Amino acid sequence: MTEKKRKTKHPAQKDWEENELKRSLDRFPERREKFTCHGGREVPRLSLPREIDRDYLENLGFPGRYPFTRGVQPTMYRGRLWTMRQYAGFSTAAASNERYRYLLDQGQTGLSIAFDLPTQIGYDSDDPLAMGEVGKVGVAIDTLADMEVLFDRIPLDKISTSMTINSPAMVLLAMYVVVAEKQGVAADRLRGTIQNDILKEYVARGTYIFPPRPSLRLITNIFQWCAEKAPLFNTISISGYHIREAGSTASQEVAFTLANGMTYVQTALDAGLELEIFARRLAFFFNAHNNLLEEIAKFRAARRLWARIMKERFGAKKPASMMLRFHTQTAGCTLTAQQVDNNIVRVTLQALAAVLGGTQSLHTNSRDEALSLPTEESVRTALRTQQILAHESGVADIVDPLAGSWYIEQLTDTIEREAVELIDQIMEAGGVVACIENGFIQAQIEDAAYQYQQEIERGERIIVGVNRFQSEEETRVPVMRVDPAVEEEQVRRLQQVRAERDTGAATRALARLKAAAERSEANLMEPVLEAVRCYCSLGEICNVLRDVFGEYRDY
Ligand code: 3HC
Repeated sequence: MTEKKRKTKHPAQKDWEENELKRSLDRFPERREKFTCHGGREVPRLSLPREIDRDYLENLGFPGRYPFTRGVQPTMYRGRLWTMRQYAGFSTAAASNERYRYLLDQGQTGLSIAFDLPTQIGYDSDDPLAMGEVGKVGVAIDTLADMEVLFDRIPLDKISTSMTINSPAMVLLAMYVVVAEKQGVAADRLRGTIQNDILKEYVARGTYIFPPRPSLRLITNIFQWCAEKAPLFNTISISGYHIREAGSTASQEVAFTLANGMTYVQTALDAGLELEIFARRLAFFFNAHNNLLEEIAKFRAARRLWARIMKERFGAKKPASMMLRFHTQTAGCTLTAQQVDNNIVRVTLQALAAVLGGTQSLHTNSRDEALSLPTEESVRTALRTQQILAHESGVADIVDPLAGSWYIEQLTDTIEREAVELIDQIMEAGGVVACIENGFIQAQIEDAAYQYQQEIERGERIIVGVNRFQSEEETRVPVMRVDPAVEEEQVRRLQQVRAERDTGAATRALARLKAAAERSEANLMEPVLEAVRCYCSLGEICNVLRDVFGEYRDY
C-alpha cells in the first residue's frame, strides 16, 4: 500500500522536480552521487508525507519554492554546504590578515570582519574618543591603506566577505571595492555582505552615529549603487542576533527583525527603487540560542513569514525577492565564564539548530569568548564543530529532516503567529522608527531579558556550572589579550598616510562629499569612493557627514 501510493507523484512534486530542482542541479550538482548511511542505505534528498494535501502545499511546500519553509535551495546542503564564516578581527590589519589566512587554511569558506569600536562609530584611531579602544574588539581600520593590508594575499574574486559595519557601512564598502579594484577584481564580481542595519543599533547594539532619516538615506543609497555596480553583493544583513543577545524571546527576535526588514523595503520603495531588483540582495542574521527545538522552528517560521510578507504585503513576484537567506551566530550571551569547556557543547547544539533550521552561513562561538576574544586554538575547535556537523553527523545529507514533526510544525506555526501579532502592534503604533523613538521595542526586550535573568536567579532556569553543578576550582584557560602598544602603532600608521597622501586631492574630495550630502537627493556612494581613493580617513569622512546630518542621541 505505502509503496504503491508513493509511485503516483503529486503534480506539484513533479512540477518542482522539473523546474526548481532541475535548475538547481544544473548549477550546483550535489556534493555526492549518493548519500548513504553506514551499510549503504541511501539517504533521500527530501522526505515527503504519504498524502501531499493543500495544507502541506500552503504551509510547507518544497525547498527552493514559496513559502520556502523547508529551505531556500531545492537541494540545500547536498548542493552546497553552508558557508563556514567565523567572525574575526582584532588589533591591526596585519594581525587580522594573519588570522583570516589561518582560518582559510583550516577550511573556513567565508570571511567575516570584526571592526573595533572606533571604526564602527566612525572615529579615527587618533581621535580622543578612540583612546583605549583601538584594536580591542575588532580590527582598527582608518584608511584604504589598512584595508589593503587586511586583504593582503586574499583573492577577493574567490571569497565572500561579510563586514559587521553599520553607520559607516558605505565607507567600508567603498574601501573594499577599491581594494578589489587594485587586485584587478571589478565590483560586479564581488560577493559579500555589509551589515548596514541601523535600526537594530538604536534598540540593541548601539553603534549608531546619525539620526534615523539620514541613516536610512545612506542605506538606500547603498541598495541603489550595488544594484547597478555590485549586483552580487548583499546590501544589508537585517539582524536579529543582537536583539536576542539583548534578551528578547525567539518570537520577538523574528518580529523585530522582520519589522525592521519591512521598514527598509518601504524606505527603498519610497526612494523609487525597484522591489524585484533590491529585494533579492536583502539578507538576514539570526541568533542560535539554547533551546534546540524552538530555534529550529524559529528559523522555519521566519523564512515562511518573510516570504508571505514580501508576496502579500509588497507584491513581490520573483521567488528571489521572497527568500529569507540568513547567517547565524551561536548565542554569545549563553557562553559562561565558568567551566568554559561546557561552552563547546552549548555551541554544538546551537549550531545544530542553525543547520536543521536551514542557515546559509554560520559562525560558531569559541569556548573562551565569555572571557576575551578567542585564542587561535579555541577558534579552531569552533570551526571543527561546524566541520563535524557537516561531514560526520549526516544532517547535511537531507533537506529539512524535521519537517512533519508534530511539535516542530506546531511550534513553527505558533512562532509565526506570535511574530505576526507583534509586527501588527508595531505597524499600528506608527511603525518601527516611531516605536524606537517612543521606546516600545526597547521596553519589550528589557522585560523579556529581566524575566530570563529572574528565572536564573530563582534557580528555575538551570545554567550548568553557574547556578547548578558548580565546581570548586576552575580550569584556567589561556586568554587572548590585545597589546595596548597596538594603539600607538596604528596612530603612527594613520599619521604617516596623512603625511604622504595628496592633501589637496583629499581636501577637495571631502568638500565634494559635503556638497553632495547637503543635496538630499544625491547618492553619496561615488563621492565616498573618491574620498577613499584619496586616502581620506574614516573619521574625516564621517565628520563631514556629522556636520551635515548631526548625531543621534538616545536620551
Ligand atoms: N543550490 C544552488 N545554489 C546554491 C546552493 C544550492 N544548494 N547553495 C548555495 N547556492 C548559491 C547561492 O544562491 C549563492 O548564489 P547567488 O548569490 O548568486 O544566489 C551562492 O551559492 C552562495 O550561497 P549563499 O548566498 O547561500 O551563501 P553566502 O555565504 O555567500 O551568503 C548570506 C549567505 C546570509 C546571504 C550572506 O548575507 C552572508 O554571508 N551573511 C553573513 C553575515 C555575517 O557574517 N554577519 C556576522 C555579524 S557578526 C555580529 O554582528 C555579531 C557581533 O556584533 C558580536
